Amino acid sequence: MQVVHTVADLRAALAGQNQTAFVPTMGNLHAGHVSLVELAKRHGRPVVASIFVNPLQFGAGEDFERYPRTLAADCEKLEAAGCDLVFAPDVAEMYPVPQTYTVQVPEAMANDLCGAFRPGHFSGVATVVLKLFNLVQPRAAVFGSKDFQQLQVIRELVRQFNLPIDIVAGATLREADGLALSSRNGYLSETERRQAPQLQRELAAIAAAVQAGEREFEALCVSAGRHLNMAGWRVDYIALRDATTLQAPTPDSRRLVVLGAAWLGTTRLIDNLDFGLGNPA
Ligand code: PAF
Repeated sequence: MQVVHTVADLRAALAGQNQTAFVPTMGNLHAGHVSLVELAKRHGRPVVASIFVNPLQFGAGEDFERYPRTLAADCEKLEAAGCDLVFAPDVAEMYPVPQTYTVQVPEAMANDLCGAFRPGHFSGVATVVLKLFNLVQPRAAVFGSKDFQQLQVIRELVRQFNLPIDIVAGATLREADGLALSSRNGYLSETERRQAPQLQRELAAIAAAVQAGEREFEALCVSAGRHLNMAGWRVDYIALRDATTLQAPTPDSRRLVVLGAAWLGTTRLIDNLDFGLGNPA
């Protein structure tokens, strides 16, 4: 596996390749990322992963500075997973001049769900992903489903800019107690770690209630938020949406997704469960 840090070296390493499968990451890799690399291998070769903590997608006071940088350990995991090439630029390499041209994500998407609590976040994500796509020029790119809204933003980016890239979604991997794998789980204290699966349990309870016929969606979400807040979380949102449009469910919706974001101490966790109506998840 080759590791490159510059655009010039990346382009040289990829010259003539047009079947590349790409896994963009911010590093501090866990088994969830490894599963994305394994999925990528089924969609193209060589498999390229990027490791870049993108300042554009972090707001003031967020965890950009403390986000774990673990390049050596990440490269070991990528190599073991069968990745062929790693692109690990620094900030000056990705943004040699201030990035004044950015992707403007439509307000309805940019300011919804996570976007309502992280202004500018999805513009920062879409901008870096577009740059990475232009650099790597993959035929397929793999993203985790835990960032469900991000996946939606990227699918729409690819569609509206006619990028010839298949977007592939990898399933969320979970710990034995249900907690979704996330680099941010490492921020949790022991007590918080024990409490963290509650977010997933509340989402699962909503999904089960809806599948059992409950249609008071708002009440279900409010009540789940109340349980979490009473247990010491600070809830940003709990929401039920159509899984295809990410809009409010309609009578025609066949797949729904219940999404949540909440803080445990200084750690913000997100999770979601998508499920069909009529057949158990
Ligand atoms: O999901 C992530 O790790 C990041 O948002 C991404 C897609 C690598 C862009 O920085």
